[in-house]
Amino acid sequence: MASMISEEKRNPSIVILDFGSQYSELIARRIRETEVYSLVMSYTISAQQLQVLNPKGIILSGGPGSVYEEGAPHCDPEIFNLGIPILGVCYGMQLMVHQLGGSVTPATGKAEYGKAPLEVDDPTALLTNIMTGSIMWMSHGDAVTKLPKGFVRLAHTSNTLEAAIALHNKSLYGVQFHPEVVHSAQGMVLIRNFVYHICSCERDWTTNLFIDEAVTQVQQQVGDKKVLLALSGGVDSSTLAFLLNKAIGPQLTCMFIDQGFMRKGEPEFLMSFFDEKFHINVQYINARERFISKLKGITDPEQKRKIIGREFIRVFEEESLRLGPFDYLAQGTLYPDVIESAGTNIDPKTGERIAVKIKSHHNVGGLPKDLQFKLVEPLRRLFKDEVRKVGKSLGLPDEIVRRHPFPGPGLAIRILGEVNHEKLNCLRDADLIVREEVNYAGLYNEIWQAFAVLLPVYSVGVMGDQRTYAWPIVLRCVSSEDGMTADWSRLPYEVLEKISNRIVNEVEGVNRVVLDITSKPPGTIEWE
Ligand code: XMP
Repeated sequence: MASMISEEKRNPSIVILDFGSQYSELIARRIRETEVYSLVMSYTISAQQLQVLNPKGIILSGGPGSVYEEGAPHCDPEIFNLGIPILGVCYGMQLMVHQLGGSVTPATGKAEYGKAPLEVDDPTALLTNIMTGSIMWMSHGDAVTKLPKGFVRLAHTSNTLEAAIALHNKSLYGVQFHPEVVHSAQGMVLIRNFVYHICSCERDWTTNLFIDEAVTQVQQQVGDKKVLLALSGGVDSSTLAFLLNKAIGPQLTCMFIDQGFMRKGEPEFLMSFFDEKFHINVQYINARERFISKLKGITDPEQKRKIIGREFIRVFEEESLRLGPFDYLAQGTLYPDVIESAGTNIDPKTGERIAVKIKSHHNVGGLPKDLQFKLVEPLRRLFKDEVRKVGKSLGLPDEIVRRHPFPGPGLAIRILGEVNHEKLNCLRDADLIVREEVNYAGLYNEIWQAFAVLLPVYSVGVMGDQRTYAWPIVLRCVSSEDGMTADWSRLPYEVLEKISNRIVNEVEGVNRVVLDITSKPPGTIEWE
């Protein structure tokens, strides 16, 4: 069985204790934007474990519950006696108050959601350079009604008396608002105050530092052994290929399985880029016919996904035996995968939440039990935006670094119902036009995903003197932060017109273009 290896060699400067807020990860990203290394850990970590990690500061995250409810998550009270500066955010602040002898009660009639101007009472320490009237984002149904002994108020709002508080001599701070969200105008000023001035953190998290560390760690981990990487052409696996190539060069073999559902020109681009231009060893596996023949007669989306996933594993297994043996499998696991799939598992040595299963990405999820690989996962400390920075710094072109997300099953789930060559060719041509026109219009980087979907129905059209009976293409363009929610992109009419004209004129088999104007939820981004 593949085993998870903890590559954590360095201690975080700031630890975020996660009480279940949707913003815990965002806090970590914001701290890292200040070039300070931060990790999210479970609130169950003990003071003793934290002491071993020796962070310069601790942040108690928000959370959905009420601190006074039975079973509400509390942290080890000894954490407040470690002498390490602490910032409690929303639930985190209420917890600090509750655990240190103050009171938190339901803010009946005074709950505060949304933007609120802050009235600063003490413009020092945490609130240095924060202006009165500065907008901060509030989201709380409980409020602090009595401060613990020694605490003072730093700021209030019209609805919330204790909007920011401090116990100066112990460097304990709390804010009722969320400095990490973009709606908090001076949130980053506050975060920098905490990180640099209160915790005295140094800038220990830069792209170049990360690359140097990761290269050394991979070299130490792998030694002279051989590593296999499944390259998909996305930013994660591409960055991984460049990083591993830098670290271990010829010990790396990349496998690119062409399942036949990539976009027009992508397999060729990938091979010419990695293999010919950068001399990274990429084995091209042409499995097109194999995949499409397995999809004959299959119309159910989930069945399509399963078949493609299963076939991928089979090809991967066969080819790795043919090309190998390999000792290690490289995976583009990122930090959110580690946090999300970790549940409540904590590494007893580092206190870090750890993943308990292999990343459930279609490319590698469900590797057979008898396939013996240890894992190399040098990106597992990074957020997506950090991967892009690393990729760029290693020399990846914008084409890959800024590439829109593309589903593993590819165009097969953008053709509704059964997939065949004719439909694939048609969709490939339409998809290329969408990408080209969005690019020409300079909109590519503002859009999360822009693509075409083929509907297997016929509608009537007219071309010249002839009536046509052909497929419609759906244009799907969305803006999103993370793919979890999305809104349809308001493309200029001229761009829509150009895309529509080109598709009906240039793509055989299509006589109509329609625009999807559904947000997610209730729609999804993909059509299958
Ligand atoms: P939905 O359609 O669920 O998509 O709104 C959300 C994001 O996930 C991508 N997606 C997939 N990615 N395998 C993948 O690797 C899949 O089967 C798959 N289905 C959806 C989708 O492109 C969007 O970015």
